[in-house]
Amino acid sequence: MEKTNEKIKKIARDFVSRTVEFYGELGKKPFFTPSGRAAEERLGKQEIPEEGRDLSEVYEEMLGDVYSHVLFSQHPRAFSCVPSTASLISWMGDVMTNAFNPHAACKVNAPAADLVERKLVRWMADLAGYPGTAGGIFVSGGSVANLTALTAARDARLTGEERAKAVVYVSDQTHSSVAKGLLVIGFFPEQIRKIPCDALFRMDVSRLNAEIEADLAAGRKPFAVVGSAGTTNTGSVDPLGEISSVCKKYGMWFHVDGAYGATALLSGRGRERLRGIELSDSLSWDAHKWMLQTYGCSLVLVRDRADLVRSFAAHPEYLKDAETSEDGVEFWDLGPELTRPARSLKLWFTLQVLGSREFGRIVDHGCALSELAEKTVRAREGWEVVSPASLAVVNFRFVPEGLTEEERDEVNCRASKEITESGFAQVYTTELCGRKVLRLCTIHPETTEEDVLETVARLAKYASAAAEDVLRSRR
Ligand SMILES: Cc1ncc(COP(=O)(O)O)c(C=O)c1O
Repeated sequence: MEKTNEKIKKIARDFVSRTVEFYGELGKKPFFTPSGRAAEERLGKQEIPEEGRDLSEVYEEMLGDVYSHVLFSQHPRAFSCVPSTASLISWMGDVMTNAFNPHAACKVNAPAADLVERKLVRWMADLAGYPGTAGGIFVSGGSVANLTALTAARDARLTGEERAKAVVYVSDQTHSSVAKGLLVIGFFPEQIRKIPCDALFRMDVSRLNAEIEADLAAGRKPFAVVGSAGTTNTGSVDPLGEISSVCKKYGMWFHVDGAYGATALLSGRGRERLRGIELSDSLSWDAHKWMLQTYGCSLVLVRDRADLVRSFAAHPEYLKDAETSEDGVEFWDLGPELTRPARSLKLWFTLQVLGSREFGRIVDHGCALSELAEKTVRAREGWEVVSPASLAVVNFRFVPEGLTEEERDEVNCRASKEITESGFAQVYTTELCGRKVLRLCTIHPETTEEDVLETVARLAKYASAAAEDVLRSRR
């Protein structure tokens, strides 16, 4: 054992210096190195050995064959989906948490971790404008945060008999995890209404009202509306204040999916955009999106912590002695997990090191880059902006004369594929108004203006070549 520990010491030193170097060099490298055939062959042949292997050998093998072939979504030119902004500082926080492995579900196991997590929940609740009754818990991601909040909504607003008649309202831009979560907690697809959006991809509140009235007239039970503070497709923000009024009028729960956009609360401009968020009953907020955290760090907040306790407290007999919190509530009473890691210690560490203002600057930087992309695209002939820059997301499309809409779809898809396969930048398409568009999400703090300008220029080059090909194939 001693010998192994000595080896671990040596390897760990090597690992730290390689990791720091890796992050330092990331922007100069392609965001993705496809796994070499040789690596796949080696891994394919490797079975679980009956006797253990040499530590250094396995370490090198894992680094070379597995971790090198990851698509680095924390690369400054990874612009698709919601890229990661994972930082070395968060990584360090993660390593420390994993090393000491606190079981962070109840105070008695890790009192200081419990205190830190509670303080962070309170700090974020204050940022969201929630009252003193608020509470929450860090879960693995936005999907689980949405599911957790909607479970609380179900149990707070519906009796057992009402569940079959219940209806929940989302928009046609709401993240897919919301519907998935609703199905997991027992609703059927026909109980989910997709409200259309306006030209800026925000929920149309008059349509929401009309749908609720129609459901009431049909004897159904409208019980919740999900608004978005930063949709994934376009970064749009639903009219949160208006939706809250609708919810109040009909006694419905108002959940805000801020998994992507709630971090904008840390910027002055961002706060303005999210006005009305403070009126919601629950909020999802991912720190592993725009707050520099490695994966597995998402907060679900509720206006009244008792709503989580109602849904999730279990009190098994063998844990009675571990119930020591002064307020009678442990983290295991607030979410679906029993054992849980102290997910937010790395966020606390990052915030202590960087300070909260830095996050405001990061949000403003991301928004400015998407505005730059929009301006650049608008200045290019044959291009159109499909959704203007909003919370660091912008969508655009090459629409050359003489091509059908289907051919334009094909041309934009090819541009996305080619730039992504080149390893220079990751740009995926999404669909808006039934058409394929190129989408940039520019949240990485180290992304430069040059990165954005060069990405748009390369997309234009690939798209023009693809359009030429289409025209040539017709001749
Ligand atoms: C608005 C929104 N909600 C929820 C999610 C799901 O979050 P996660 O992938 O962390 O489960 C995402 C992911 O991109 C998102 O953008």
